[in-house]
Amino acid sequence: MTEPGLEFAYDAVAYPTPIVPELNPARIRAACALQGFAAPAAAGASVLEIGCGDGYNLLGIAAASPGAPHVGFDLSAAAIARGRAVLRTSGLSNVELAQGDITVWRGGRTFDYILCHGVHSWVPPVVQEALLGLIAAHLAPGGVAYVSHDVLPAAAPKQAIKAFLRRAIPAGAEPHDAIAAARALLADLGARQLPHSRLRPQFDVLLRELPAFEDGYFFHDWLSDAYHPVSMTDLGEAAARHGLVAIADAGLADLFDDGNGAAADALAARLGGGHAARAYAADMLDGTRMFRRTVLARVDAPPPPAADLGELSFVLAAAPESQAGGTAYRGADNAFFRPATAMAWQVMARLAGLAPREVAYADLLAETGDASALNKVLAQICSVPVANAYASPAPYAGQPGERPRASPLVNAMLDAVEFAPTLRLNRLVSKQGATRMFLALCDGTRTRADLRRDMSAGLGRDVPASQIEAVLADLAGRQVFLG
Ligand SMILES: C[S@@+](CC[C@H](N)C(=O)[O-])C[C@H]1O[C@@H](n2cnc3c(N)ncnc32)[C@H](O)[C@@H]1O
Repeated sequence: MTEPGLEFAYDAVAYPTPIVPELNPARIRAACALQGFAAPAAAGASVLEIGCGDGYNLLGIAAASPGAPHVGFDLSAAAIARGRAVLRTSGLSNVELAQGDITVWRGGRTFDYILCHGVHSWVPPVVQEALLGLIAAHLAPGGVAYVSHDVLPAAAPKQAIKAFLRRAIPAGAEPHDAIAAARALLADLGARQLPHSRLRPQFDVLLRELPAFEDGYFFHDWLSDAYHPVSMTDLGEAAARHGLVAIADAGLADLFDDGNGAAADALAARLGGGHAARAYAADMLDGTRMFRRTVLARVDAPPPPAADLGELSFVLAAAPESQAGGTAYRGADNAFFRPATAMAWQVMARLAGLAPREVAYADLLAETGDASALNKVLAQICSVPVANAYASPAPYAGQPGERPRASPLVNAMLDAVEFAPTLRLNRLVSKQGATRMFLALCDGTRTRADLRRDMSAGLGRDVPASQIEAVLADLAGRQVFLG
């Protein structure tokens, strides 16, 4: 959907793809299990990503599930070309990347998982509607779709500020000039907000984050032609028009209960119940949540109820902090958790003691003994979030074997862009030539002694065996070795 004569914005300015760990089907299945649904098994699942950009996330997902089909498309020919360049050297044979438009794309098959991240709020309403139609037409019975989006009411100030930028910056300005003008305008507006301005909280956050935004990200998030956040109830109604229903939150935000849980339940009942109503009620009470990752299913064939949490594993996603009242945990994006019960304390201590290793649910249950209380603690820590949950056996080797083999995708991406998705879809950054040389040597043919010999030759100095072991252990914790 590009105006005739205008270059598509995502071709003109590259969007710097973030690696999004929540897109991992093993995490989506875990999130669904924590909310009572058995989404398809992640290993071997067929996956479609809509608006995949350069497809780096999809490549990471495919690397952890060899043999299963992974299809991605995006309107930007430039983004798809970047993805295909990496795909060619990645060793993956289970990925198709193609240029395509949401309004007309047809896949000719169904998929267990459909992913669409960072697209819904940034396309016109007609494309939002087509997106839901596309999901409905391609979702396998029992399958789930992940759609992320900005949410009202909290996104309303952003909407107003973005509308102002669009009017204040000349249409057709060169992206570079538009970005510079927008940054200056935002700084000025932010500095001049009156103390009780209702836009002030949004400006405060924006001005704090702005210096860290890459230009490409800023351009597409703040200067996009389209910006249409929806309330959860609007999304629920739109989904229903296509035979879809919101069933869960892949970010687990809906499980987070900061004291308003009972009130949200009561309001949701007045709104007719269901996940979308519950999330809408929570958003109205909370007033700060701007972004959600909603899981959709087919109304006529939702996933079955989850039997239990037995197959899940958990990993710490926070740093412990010693405080006067005991240990607290601080995760990304200001996530903060101070265990308030003996069991919460016990679970966090166990995860912290074994990090970065994943801990099986069965081990936590054996230690705590009370499934119902444990499940509540796990839902709480994953929703803050200070822990992550996965619902499949780790597709990486926690202890590399005699001849370590690094994921070829990791090597291909580090060569191309200096970052890579790990086999759990976390972001690995490596600008260091020595690490890259080491990973390239780990191709499954060399023993540790061979690695030591070839690293020593490459670096022109003797590398002790202990250093080889230390680097192997560190990289194993970063989920890059195949089993
Ligand atoms: C903010 S980017 C997100 C890209 C990627 N999903 C990610 O999270 O990194 C939005 C993407 O939607 C794509 N897009 C916009 N309109 C589209 C359409 N009509 N059909 C397919 N892709 C579209 C853009 O080309 C762009 O790659």
